[in-house]
Amino acid sequence: MARIIDTPLIAGDGGSCDPRTVHGAWGALDAAAQRGLAHTHAVQAATDHLYEKVKHVIPAIEWPAYAPLIAAINEMKRAKNAVILAHNYMTSEIFYCVGDFRGDSLQLAREAAETGAEIIVQAGVHFMAETSKCLAPEKTVLIPDTRAGCSLAASITGADVRLIKARYPGVPVVTYVNTSAEVKAESDVCCTSSNAAAVVEWAARTWNSDRVICIPDEYLAKNVAAQTGVKIIAWHGRCEVHERFTAEDIAEMREAHPGLVVLAHPECPPDVMAASDFAGSTAALQDYVTEKRPGKVVLLTECSMSDNVAATAPDTDFIRPCNLCPHMKRITLEGIYDALREMKHEVTIPEDVRVRAKRAIDAMLALPKEKPRAFEVGRPEVAVELV
Ligand code: 13P
Ligand code: SF4
Repeated sequence: MARIIDTPLIAGDGGSCDPRTVHGAWGALDAAAQRGLAHTHAVQAATDHLYEKVKHVIPAIEWPAYAPLIAAINEMKRAKNAVILAHNYMTSEIFYCVGDFRGDSLQLAREAAETGAEIIVQAGVHFMAETSKCLAPEKTVLIPDTRAGCSLAASITGADVRLIKARYPGVPVVTYVNTSAEVKAESDVCCTSSNAAAVVEWAARTWNSDRVICIPDEYLAKNVAAQTGVKIIAWHGRCEVHERFTAEDIAEMREAHPGLVVLAHPECPPDVMAASDFAGSTAALQDYVTEKRPGKVVLLTECSMSDNVAATAPDTDFIRPCNLCPHMKRITLEGIYDALREMKHEVTIPEDVRVRAKRAIDAMLALPKEKPRAFEVGRPEVAVELV
C-alpha cells in the first residue's frame, strides 16, 4: 500500500496537510444529515466497491460520512443523464467516487467535447467549466461553487490581451487554458501544460514568426521558452499554488528522503524545474509514476494529486509538501449534490465570446493528439520579454 508522508517543509493554507480536513468527514456528515441522507444498507451496498479506491486516504471510520452523498450523487447522475468531469486536483472521494471522467485540463476539455450526456458538472475550477461550455454549448454546464476561480485566470482580462496585440501586431497569441472565455476569445490558439511547447512551436511555424505571445503564466512561459527556440513574450500571471515551491525546499527534501524522485508541474518557477528530475502536466506526472514506479516520490503540485496518484501506485511512497489550491478545494460533495439537485450555478457565456473562444480551443484540439509532452529539465534558463 502506498504511503502518504506529509512533510512540514512547506506550510500550506490553514496549516493542514490533509486537504480533506479543510472540509473533512464531520463536514460531510453534517452535510449529508442536513439533506436527509443517511448511511443505510442500500447506500453501503451501492458504495462499498468505491471505497477500495480511496481506502488509502479515507479511514474506514470516516467512510459512512461520505458514502450517503456519493450514493445520492451517482443516483442523480443516472436519472438526469449527467456526467462529472473531475480534475486531478479533486479530493479522492470526488475524484474516484463520483467522477466519470478524470484527468488534466486537456483530457477534460476533450471529454466535454465528446460526451453524450445532457449535463456536465465540472469538478474543477471556473475556467474549466467555461471551456466545457465553449465546446458543448447545447449542454447544461454546472460549477458546484461559483467562487472556484484561479489566480492565473484572474491575472488578465480580454482588454489586456487587446492591448498586447496592439503592441505586437502580427505576433500569434497562445493562451493557457487557465483563462476566462473572454481572454480565450482574443487569442489565436489555446494550450495546456500537456502541449504548451508543441503549440508554441506550431504557432511560430504557422504565423511564420520568430516570436510568440504566451500568456498569462510567467513561469510556464519561461519554462516553454527553455524548451523551444521561439522568443517568448509573456505576462506576469502566477499560479498562487506552484509559485510557492522553491529549489531550497527540494534540497531539504532530498536530504531528508534519500532516493527521492522529484516531479514538478511547469507552473513552478524555472529554478524549481531545474532542481527536479522530471516535469510535466498533471497527466504527465501521473504517467511517470505509473510507468516508472519510483520507490519514493514528491509531486510539486497541488496536494490532492498525490492522494489520487497513490491509488494507482501501491508500491510508491509519496512525500507530500502541502500546497492546497483554495479554489479547487471549494468543490465538495455537497456542493456537487446541491448543484445537480437544484440545477444551480449554470455557466453561461455570451454567444459571440463563446464562438471566438471555441475557435482558439478548437485550434488546439485539432493539433495531432500526442502523449502529454514532458518538459526536459536541466535546460538553461532563457530570458522572455515581460509585457
Ligand atoms: P493541468 O492542465 O496540468 O491539469 O493543470 C491545470 C492546473 O490548474 C494546474 O494548476
Ligand atoms: Fe489556478 Fe494554480 Fe489553482 Fe491551478 S492550482 S487552478 S493554476 S490557482
